[in-house]
Amino acid sequence: MIGVPDRYTVIGNPIAHSKSPEIHARFAAQTGQELTYERVLAPLDGFARTVRDLIVQGVKGANVTLPFKLEAYALADSLTERAKAAGAVNTLSFEGGIIGGDNTDGAGLVRDIVVNAGVSIKGKSVLLLGAGGAARGVLLPILNEHPVEIVIANRTVGKAAELAAQFSNRGPVTSSSFEALQRRFDIVINATSASLADDVPPIAPLVVGGNAFAYDMMYGKAPTVFMRFAEQHGARVRDGLGMLVEQAAESFFIWRGVRPDTAPVYADLRAKL
Ligand code: ATR
Repeated sequence: MIGVPDRYTVIGNPIAHSKSPEIHARFAAQTGQELTYERVLAPLDGFARTVRDLIVQGVKGANVTLPFKLEAYALADSLTERAKAAGAVNTLSFEGGIIGGDNTDGAGLVRDIVVNAGVSIKGKSVLLLGAGGAARGVLLPILNEHPVEIVIANRTVGKAAELAAQFSNRGPVTSSSFEALQRRFDIVINATSASLADDVPPIAPLVVGGNAFAYDMMYGKAPTVFMRFAEQHGARVRDGLGMLVEQAAESFFIWRGVRPDTAPVYADLRAKL
């Protein structure tokens, strides 16, 4: 019997430019999984309604992107540990009338750093720039790799202090202003949205010097200004395209129980940027 393919979606607003349908179609073809994956534009005031409609239609799961990750967190009936820590959900599963919420962003980042870039986090000093949703979303998965420390630095220092306090019972997390950072870190992760404005957080060159590994969660055709700054001062750099592909692979794994090969998909996306 030929089955009807399972349906998945990505929900956001805007959504037209999401690369997720292309990524998941590649994963499905590669692993022989029968599924469809569509973009869904939810009205800004209609996220929950949109999700419920999709469930009624028999959709099995959904990725959630801006600006709905907090609403997806609130809507979920059950949450994974990492989704709770992130305070946000990017992956919903609809099974047996239950809305399950997970967050694969941090796992995607960690896998891109550890596996794809070959940079172990264990025992390393990590600097996380930013204290918004993107930073919070990746803290627990990074801590689970057992760095020797994570310093959260942010323009609004109070937000960094608050975030560090929230995670202090989970590992060696402290906070700082950008200006007070006057030493080198092994790994520097830019989780601010500064790159969108072609801006670099004002950190001293020595912070990324001495062969540090500098990662920007943003990506684009050209290296971001943060990457250019870091490279100029001696860091090895990487952008967030791999994180995008890896968070998708982790969602695919949650839904289908199969881990796709991300390397060819990453290479294709890179070539098309
Ligand atoms: P996201 O979900 O992308 O994290 P957010 O929650 O709005 O979005 O957080 C944006 C982050 O980028 C914040 O840490 C913000 O710093 P503030 O908390 O001080 O606002 C940081 N950010 C944005 N633009 C920046 C810039 N030009 N320089 C430095 N940090 C910037």
